[in-house]
Amino acid sequence: MIPNELIDRILDKTDVVELIAAYLPLKKSGQNFKACCPFHEEKTPSFMVSPAKQIYHCFGCGAGGNAIGFLMNYEKMDFIESVRMLAEKAGLTLPQLSKGVSEKNSFAEALYGANDSACKFYQENLTGRRGGEAYGYFVKRGITERTAKLFRLGFAENFWQGLIEHLKKQGLSPDVLKKAGLILQNEKTGNWYDRFRNRIMFPIFDQRARILGFGARAMDESLPKYLNSPETYVYKKGTELYGLNFSKEAIRKQDYVIMVEGYFDFILLYQNEIRNVVATLGTALTTEQIGKLKRFTRNVIMVYDADKAGEAATLRGMDLLIAEEMNVRIAILPKGADPDSFVRRESKAGVVKVLKESYDLFDYKMSVLLAKFKAGDARGKARIVDGMLPTLSKIKNAVLKSAYLKKLSEALEVDEESIRAELKKVKPDFSRAFSGEVREGHRRIESNLAEVALLALALESGRFAEKIKNGLGFEPFKSEAIVDILKKIIELHRDSKKVTAAHLMSCFADSANGEIISEAASLAHTIDDRDKALEDCFRHIRKHTLTETLNNIRFKIKDAERSCDFAKVNKLVVEYNELLKGERALGLNNAQRGS
Ligand code: GTP
Ligand code: MN
Repeated sequence: MIPNELIDRILDKTDVVELIAAYLPLKKSGQNFKACCPFHEEKTPSFMVSPAKQIYHCFGCGAGGNAIGFLMNYEKMDFIESVRMLAEKAGLTLPQLSKGVSEKNSFAEALYGANDSACKFYQENLTGRRGGEAYGYFVKRGITERTAKLFRLGFAENFWQGLIEHLKKQGLSPDVLKKAGLILQNEKTGNWYDRFRNRIMFPIFDQRARILGFGARAMDESLPKYLNSPETYVYKKGTELYGLNFSKEAIRKQDYVIMVEGYFDFILLYQNEIRNVVATLGTALTTEQIGKLKRFTRNVIMVYDADKAGEAATLRGMDLLIAEEMNVRIAILPKGADPDSFVRRESKAGVVKVLKESYDLFDYKMSVLLAKFKAGDARGKARIVDGMLPTLSKIKNAVLKSAYLKKLSEALEVDEESIRAELKKVKPDFSRAFSGEVREGHRRIESNLAEVALLALALESGRFAEKIKNGLGFEPFKSEAIVDILKKIIELHRDSKKVTAAHLMSCFADSANGEIISEAASLAHTIDDRDKALEDCFRHIRKHTLTETLNNIRFKIKDAERSCDFAKVNKLVVEYNELLKGERALGLNNAQRGS
């Protein structure tokens, strides 16, 4: 583990406001800064960043944490990655991680490292002595030198051991290269050989520009046209979108994304200054990919190849995007064109025009169906309705769905009621239940407000934490997390260490704890008379606990009565009355409430 002292130093050198301002437009609001929450949808800002406390907190969805927590939530990094990134920014170095925690991590690092070395090698080949043909190929496809550098395009020469020999000299073992998917072993001879030969190379990046794997294109008509890295420990198909590391800021700024299929489509659009793009790389879109996009925008314009395959992929992708509550439009290129050829011919202005003329999802699907079936006869109408309903059924917004149903009934001159009746027959799509949703979402932590308020007090001063322990004890607490946090505060307080919300958060790996801490920290300023608040909370919690105990006993009494165990009934009734007396003595009974 990274020592806590070091994490504290990193947090001290980090400004959470500065960090978050790089991602969100923060507006000053009193002592704090505000923005629309990036973790749930909202129109008025309830996301707050506190420079004094060095935390963020959303009053809308409960998201909250310190700088580390923000990176974990927003960039979807793990704890170590987040700390590492902040350390880099702060100019601090992390010690070599101990085994166990870091093992997985360093395995991943090793694969990224191998991919990066391979990429450098391919890049050098492209500009090297034998790179002519490959270089010429890129030139022919309209790619400039600057673009090739930016996307780290390369060339794998037509040798069987080019890469492996080169990387061996750098001290990389065949084992790592194999696990990175870069080399293969001949089963008979046991000899290693390069996977990619005589192909131009596209490194595939993750959002942090680390190389996960490669796509490799033949320079002629040989098949397969593209050869890809196999799945590895770091490269899982259907999780990344090509180019997102380059385009995410533009997507966020323009609040929509242009979705294309191929490497060349992405790269040529980007080179022509259309930067809010991602490429799906010809595979079927997945909910996981859409989840990544959602963090930057809800609006998608699909621009797939204008051929049969592109149309089928558009229809499939469209339905998934709708089911994920994205707003979808479809831009249509002239027959046979793809975004790559189109932007080269028509330049940026041509693409902008096509985007402007993009179709609503309903109109697009209708046009596809109308081209296939005759809207004039009854059978054709039925087919079109059949084709349309699976898409409409995925629309979650009832008003929108209703409007489309109306539109469909008008377009086909079929009465709306019969379309609605057909819609009812469309089977719900269960696939989502099995797709292993990755989005964690922000579950509200169940804890009663009094417990959070006590935590708020303990955050203000360690003295209160001790008081809670001695005066109330941890027994009555519902939230185990809050108890853990309180114990931590006491521990830090006893060691005379700093107890701030931001520092405290990094003591816990569980981000749920961060959310509770941020909630409590944001509550603190609403408490003026702290000693009274402490007593109020004690009373509230005690009463709550007692009520629960009493209810429990009442149930037990009923049970005992039912089974005619009257000795037990008597015992329970005595217990009940004792507790009730105690409640009165404590001044906790209902009659005194409100006084
Ligand atoms: P060009 O044909 O050179 O314009 O390439 P492209 O990138 O536009 O390819 P295309 O539109 O044919 O396909 C879109 C994407 O699907 C490609 O970028 C690849 O990621 C993927 N793809 C295409 N062909 C193959 C293939 O044969 N094998 C694999 N694994 N992927 C492919
Ligand atoms: Mn193409």
